[in-house]
Amino acid sequence: MSKIIYLDAAATTPADPEVVKAMQPYFTEKFGNASTLYSLGRESRAAIDNARQTVADFIGAKDKEIVFTSGGTESDNFAIKGVAFANEQKGKHIITSAVEHHAVIEPCKFLEKRGFKVTYLPVDKYGFVNPEDVKKTLTKETILVSIMHANNEVGTVQPIEQIGKIVKEHPAYFHVDAVQSLGRLPINVDKMQADLVSFSSHKIYGPKGVGALYVRSGTKMVAYQHGGEQERRRRAGTENIPGIVGFGKAVEIAGPLLANKIPEVAKLRDKLIQGLLDKTDYSHLNGHPTKRLPNNVNIGFEYIEGESIILNLDFLGVCASTGSACSSSTLEPSHVLLALGQSHEVAHGSVRMTLTRYTTEEDIDFVLEKLPLIVEKLRSMSPLFEERTNKFQTPSTK
Ligand SMILES: Cc1ncc(COP(=O)(O)O)c(C=O)c1O
Repeated sequence: MSKIIYLDAAATTPADPEVVKAMQPYFTEKFGNASTLYSLGRESRAAIDNARQTVADFIGAKDKEIVFTSGGTESDNFAIKGVAFANEQKGKHIITSAVEHHAVIEPCKFLEKRGFKVTYLPVDKYGFVNPEDVKKTLTKETILVSIMHANNEVGTVQPIEQIGKIVKEHPAYFHVDAVQSLGRLPINVDKMQADLVSFSSHKIYGPKGVGALYVRSGTKMVAYQHGGEQERRRRAGTENIPGIVGFGKAVEIAGPLLANKIPEVAKLRDKLIQGLLDKTDYSHLNGHPTKRLPNNVNIGFEYIEGESIILNLDFLGVCASTGSACSSSTLEPSHVLLALGQSHEVAHGSVRMTLTRYTTEEDIDFVLEKLPLIVEKLRSMSPLFEERTNKFQTPSTK
């Protein structure tokens, strides 16, 4: 296989060569422990401080409000469990949505087993949380509201500022999972009125295994990793200095690209969406047509399995993913698509393609040429397709 067309930026992105270059010295000559007093260590401390300032500036925060973590999953866990255990005397109610990433849903389930009550708000057919539902669900017992900025599967961008405004009028804290939106949408923690915001480096062309949690000054939370005094005693453990430096560099690069590159990516996204809907019958767009991540395409192809499409695309060198989360033992449809009101059958036919900043028009043209042929071929082998389209004349949902 010669060239790979990588369309799975929501899963991860390749590290930018500039990021790798910035990290490199921190593995070898600048390897000092940032907690030491000599200059080698102080150099590492300065590198962390510099990255912290870069991340803080990018999201309108103060440097001391940034806690470096091992990634989005840790940031979400820290935000949710950290606030829950520090505030349980005030109340034990948490509000989240049915379309959150597992890194939010699983800590919530964990807390439910420990006496917390969690409300999983429904979403509409596009995946939007209704801010009025947040308002109606807040009680005296509510200590935390956790709503994602943009959905990792269908790309829907939540009315996060409206939700933030509602939560602001209540003593509850507001956590936003911004793992997918960092570097793709402008983020300002004050505009969001957020108290906690999660980020991950490997989604924005930085290294894997590093991320950050924004924690607004004055937020009452407990650390759940204990040991040394790193990260102002909020997250013990020797810092991942090359990772933090790389994350800082990735954020620095992402800044100007928000205005310069992202609109181009969005144009390619729209070309891919429109082309696929035009060229295939019985297909529909998952998520909202415009209020979606600039790089997210998620199409449901009815009467066939998304997994078969992925394997056929892989054969041609195209990396995409299904809308469904597969575990090794079961093949459960995506909880996000089910929350959007889709049947199990329809949810199984979804394919997510998330563009990188390196995706070219030729890549999109290639997919537009090949994917409809794959869909046609799979449908020609599908008894279900024949049965449904012949017997019932199901109208196209385009
Ligand atoms: C919305 C969202 N939150 C959290 C995570 C977890 O991030 P990480 O892979 O850095 O642990 C992901 C990863 O896909 C995500 O998409």
